[in-house]
Amino acid sequence: MSAKSDGRHRPDWGWAAPGRVNLMGEHTDYNDGWVLPFAINKRTVAAVRVRDDDRLRMWSQQSDDPEAPVETRVSTEPGDVSGWASYVAGVIWALRVAGHELPGLDLWVDSDVPLGAGLSSSAALECAVAVAIDDVLGLGLGTDRIAALARTAENDYAGAPTGVMDQMAAMHGRAGQALLLDTRTMVVQHQPCDLAAAGLVLLVVDTHAAHSLADGGGYAAVRRQCERATELLGAGALRDVGLEDLDRLPGLAGDGEVLRRRARHIVTDNARVHQAVAQLRARAWEDLGRAFSASHASLRDDFEVSCAELDVAVDSAVSAGALGARMTGGGFGGSAIALVRSADADAVAEACRAAFGAADWPEPTVFSVEPGPGAGRL
Ligand code: GLA
Repeated sequence: MSAKSDGRHRPDWGWAAPGRVNLMGEHTDYNDGWVLPFAINKRTVAAVRVRDDDRLRMWSQQSDDPEAPVETRVSTEPGDVSGWASYVAGVIWALRVAGHELPGLDLWVDSDVPLGAGLSSSAALECAVAVAIDDVLGLGLGTDRIAALARTAENDYAGAPTGVMDQMAAMHGRAGQALLLDTRTMVVQHQPCDLAAAGLVLLVVDTHAAHSLADGGGYAAVRRQCERATELLGAGALRDVGLEDLDRLPGLAGDGEVLRRRARHIVTDNARVHQAVAQLRARAWEDLGRAFSASHASLRDDFEVSCAELDVAVDSAVSAGALGARMTGGGFGGSAIALVRSADADAVAEACRAAFGAADWPEPTVFSVEPGPGAGRL
């Protein structure tokens, strides 16, 4: 084995991209709506080396055997590799489909974004790899193009039919700020989010309940329901629909009542995004907390993407003094977030652990996150 292809000699970690939490606007991103995520201070790092052949080799510190690469050709096609490597190979594939000639590559990744916790470990992986390749090969892609290519990797290679929130959050994150993204115009407006200065923390409660967007299950199903509601209403997107329009749905289809509730979540959560922006700007923390809880109720009852573990995490956090709590991300497991006064953080974490213990569920992992920087060179 030549020195150049020896995976034991990894170059230094050169690039990073963060995970995210979403403060408001869930499942709105594939309905042309608004979202309010922030990039968290947990990230994936990447190292890359150009090869002189056409092989693509990928190592992950999080894989069962970090020394053993997943190997394919740089002209990879969907289905060649699975698991974590599909998000890496997907970026290579998306770049090639977009017309970029790529040499063989060795890629290494390492991450402290919890995997499968609904905190966008996949977008962090895609974006870390994409910024690394962009930089090393001098592709000059720019932030939004990288986010779009990373989303293509996620949708069309890894097979998860997501919107673009996670990749945009990973690319546009800024310390101390959340980002308001209009997914129709793709305009990003940073918003002040200095929780520490307000004596607050944002706690993440990772429920460890299974969460996967790529298994074709619940996420794809609610997305299809949103598309049907849009079509039945003759609207361009649910973003353009008002609450008064929704009462027509029960008369338009056998499952119209279900579609009405799905659409109502999108309409009300879009409105809550704008309220949350105003609340952040006014430092109206108690109102923001109440909006979190209202959003959770909507995701639980109207959109039906929560689960018992998320509901218990939210209820326990609020009972123990959180200003508000909600599931974050796609749902069906994953994490809840709770807005908490710093002095109450331990009690809230303990209440969540105790409730999970009483239900005989594995202990949730509770930690705080802060808005951190977006993807880039280290
Ligand atoms: C996942 C997807 C996003 C978004 C959220 C729900 O995180 O990747 O595009 O749809 O779920 O808001």
